[in-house]
Amino acid sequence: MSTSRSRSRIAATCSRTAGLSRATARSGSAATARCSRQAILASSAAEPTPPTHAPDPRVIPIDWITLPKAELHLHIEGTLEPESMFELARRNGVRLPYPDVESVRRAYVFGDLQSFLDIYYAACAVLVQERDFYELTLAYLRRALLDGVRHAEIFFDPQTHTARGIDFATVVTGISRALADGRELGISSRLIMCFLRDLPAVEAMAALEQALPHRELITGVGLDSAELGNPPAKFEQVFARAVEHGFHVVAHAGEEGPPDYIRQALDVLGAERIDHGVRCLEDPQLVERLATEQIPLTVCPLSNVKLRVVDRLEHHPLAQMLDSGLCVTVNSDDPAYFGGYVGENFAAVRRALALGDAELVRLARNSFTASFLDEAAKARHLAEIDAHIQPA
Ligand code: ADE
Ligand code: ZN
Repeated sequence: MSTSRSRSRIAATCSRTAGLSRATARSGSAATARCSRQAILASSAAEPTPPTHAPDPRVIPIDWITLPKAELHLHIEGTLEPESMFELARRNGVRLPYPDVESVRRAYVFGDLQSFLDIYYAACAVLVQERDFYELTLAYLRRALLDGVRHAEIFFDPQTHTARGIDFATVVTGISRALADGRELGISSRLIMCFLRDLPAVEAMAALEQALPHRELITGVGLDSAELGNPPAKFEQVFARAVEHGFHVVAHAGEEGPPDYIRQALDVLGAERIDHGVRCLEDPQLVERLATEQIPLTVCPLSNVKLRVVDRLEHHPLAQMLDSGLCVTVNSDDPAYFGGYVGENFAAVRRALALGDAELVRLARNSFTASFLDEAAKARHLAEIDAHIQPA
């Protein structure tokens, strides 16, 4: 997939950015530099214009990494760093097919989603005890805090573990205990269990039944794993039953699969959010619907490059999605495998797509409005974003 950035979007970005009271002086692009200068002129018209080649000391750059944000698309199993993989393998007596951490990292070259999933599921063999799931989750939360994450809605794949003989309870209590400790650290969370779409629907239904005794720990259900050939409609009855039990609904769709899978996720499963959804751009009517209904799309830019959904980040459709009025958010998907946590995803798209300040703030605001937080919590987080971008 390849898209190009339109001139009109650059102009629109600049006009919105001029309204911000802090602008970035350390420009990653000509467009951002133009926006920064306009912001300076707007806020101090009587002052002489600074030379364009030097950063203006009056401009305090916004820290994009620590900008308050929510992460809405994060597979906890995808946060297993190679170092922890070896530690857990030793602890649990699991043999890894790699001699060391460096050779693991070297293996992370993927041709498509399936080639990644093969390695990702194999690595899950090191997660055995409740404390393994606890430590994995707490490590993610500590790392996310450094990237300004205030709220995380976290996926887990119970079938990956129960198929190896691990109890559902071991998985869900380990993760949930860490999420409770994370709240003490200042990060709220929700837990979303995903069904593996490459397995039969009857197995997803069994996973749902296993979840019911832990209903209060799990906010929603999702759909992940190999998309092509596994349309959302395959899971109609499973999601209908999940809705009866009051679970929120999300689904991966339009990552590798066609736009029709996004329609099915909405109309057959009742998805409130679409995970990825980048292929919606192939269907203008669908884009119009997603924009009108403001259905959130949890986009994962570095993932899309690593899994060859896009050939390079400079061609990522995120900017076009913003231009189309879609409610997009930026997320990390499986950061241990894809080369960056959410802050790095923000930094990378800012650089590669020359996003302006207003667009980055919009992405952060969307991450809260698209979350399953209540309205009061959303309002608190949006006010915190405003405070972050205002001068002290
Ligand atoms: N499971 C973990 N990461 C995934 C992705 N990017 N797509 C589908 N399933 C996944
Ligand atoms: Zn995902």
